[in-house]
Amino acid sequence: MKFEIVTIFPDFFRGPLDYGIVRRAREAAFIEILIHDLRAFTTDRHKTVDDRPFGGGEGMVLKPEPLFECVESLQLASRKRRMAGEAKEAVVLLSPQGQMFTQAVAEEMAGLERIVMICGRYEGVDERVAESLADREISIGDYVLSGGELAAAIVVDAVARLQAGVLGNETSSVDESFGEAGLLDWPQYTRPAEFRGWKVPEVLIGGNHEEVRKWRRNAAREKTQRQRPDLLEGSRK
Ligand code: ADE
Repeated sequence: MKFEIVTIFPDFFRGPLDYGIVRRAREAAFIEILIHDLRAFTTDRHKTVDDRPFGGGEGMVLKPEPLFECVESLQLASRKRRMAGEAKEAVVLLSPQGQMFTQAVAEEMAGLERIVMICGRYEGVDERVAESLADREISIGDYVLSGGELAAAIVVDAVARLQAGVLGNETSSVDESFGEAGLLDWPQYTRPAEFRGWKVPEVLIGGNHEEVRKWRRNAAREKTQRQRPDLLEGSRK
């Protein structure tokens, strides 16, 4: 799978995508990540990427021309074909106005072959980008970041780890939070069995697999009830 990130801060991605599973997935060529510097698609001397908003107001808005030039240079399938699901490609605008990025959206995106992500700036992006260039607009949460770069890195991480072969154990992304049961992950413990007087639940040490399974299911439910009761509404178990 190929991820392409359109940004005014290309150096931003030097750190976040160079560690752990994402790094290994890149090294093993399960995924490829290309960074496109938006300023390279400007035509003026000052490499202008933003301008004042029509109608007045604070802040600057990302101009449409460099964004369209950049994405069009990538020679993707047409927006119509992408949106009809005829091409396994997507152009995603990251902004706080987008639809919420959830595990279900990550799974949907994991079925694509190529994802182009446009990082917005917090003041805004010309709306014609959302309407006519991007296929969808995605937010990683109800808070405002200073730009879409962190959000893009998060999408890469969440989608990359769902690619076949990236996690050693094929089932390990099924057993986790927001997995099949729609519950949070169950609590995990490791040695020592007693730490500062706090003991690991006896059943986990006993080695009775059926009992362990029951305990985990129950503990996951309890934890979900406590931390995220909203998830239980949609629970499948
Ligand atoms: N850019 C700024 N805030 C964002 C958010 N919450 N999600 C995605 N992109 C953003």
